[in-house]
Amino acid sequence: MDKKYDISGKVLENSKVMENFWLIKLECPEIARIIVPGQFVMLRLTEQTDPLFRRPLTVSRIYKEEGVIDILYKVVGQGTEIMTTWEPGHTCSILGPLGNGFTLPASAKNIAVLGRDTGIGPLAALIDQAAAKGVGVYAFLSSKYTELLHSFSFLEGKGELLFYPDNGAWRCGPFMTKELERVAGKIKLDQIYMGGLCDFCPSCSLIKNIHHLAHRQGINAQISLDQYMACGLGACQGCVVELYQGQDQKSRCYKRVCKEGPVFLSWEVVSNG
Ligand SMILES: Cc1cc2nc3c(=O)[nH]c(=O)nc-3n(C[C@H](O)[C@H](O)[C@H](O)COP(=O)(O)OP(=O)(O)OC[C@H]3O[C@@H](n4cnc5c(N)ncnc54)[C@H](O)[C@@H]3O)c2cc1C
Ligand code: FES
Repeated sequence: MDKKYDISGKVLENSKVMENFWLIKLECPEIARIIVPGQFVMLRLTEQTDPLFRRPLTVSRIYKEEGVIDILYKVVGQGTEIMTTWEPGHTCSILGPLGNGFTLPASAKNIAVLGRDTGIGPLAALIDQAAAKGVGVYAFLSSKYTELLHSFSFLEGKGELLFYPDNGAWRCGPFMTKELERVAGKIKLDQIYMGGLCDFCPSCSLIKNIHHLAHRQGINAQISLDQYMACGLGACQGCVVELYQGQDQKSRCYKRVCKEGPVFLSWEVVSNG
């Protein structure tokens, strides 16, 4: 069984990146040592009973030696609002690492990653990992907010980074599909990764296009799903989603995003048709 820790983590930094996007740096050595890109942690927000449930957040940078992780978070409600009040030195209970994470095949030479807003966070950790292994990275990173994209400039030099500030005119980013097709026409990609492209909807044309492109190229596309979670441990069944079972998509099955996910193959999620 994969090792999990429920430990007290210390806030080292917690700063506003822009508007309602924040970056928190947490000291949690046991978790930092073993967490992989695409995995997440559940943070307890208060010692009181409200809010009761921990909140799931994905690691955006991993500093194994220092025992530290970064998380990029968007303030959307009570829990993430509470997080913004945490000063350096504050301690909170952290459960993790949770979920499966992205897989980087040992033979991979070139990968493409596509993400938007907080979905770029998990991809940043993946880009770090791929670059450290000498894997070529083509990163398509989009946001309505130019400053948010600037906050990822630490990734410069780790691959070909293509930033798409779109001023809110996103509409499933057809320009991203076009660019990805251009790159795939020149370079043999070994895998494609997607994080937070939309508030996931199976009808998203971008996710469909990427899935079809991966299918044509005979490669896998991995997609990280977002879902409401209560336990994060596979016990409550609260995060179950209906997926395709088998690449022929003849039958359906149910999987827990917190346990069997949050990373799934695109054919599990998106129709081949
Ligand atoms: C595996 C996983 C990893 C995640 N990683 C990150 C991350 O790295 N950074 C980040 O900013 N967010 C991430 N999220 C989303 C994050 O967990 C939610 O935004 C957070 O729980 C909201 O808590 P809250 O108390 O502030 O808002 P709530 O008061 O709980 O909700 C406020 C609003 O957000 C919506 N919402 C809450 N949770 C979700 C959810 N899981 N999916 C879609 N909508 C939701 C609610 O419908 C409501 O409209 C992740 C979610 C999952 C499942
Ligand atoms: S959140 Fe409880 S099973 Fe996934």
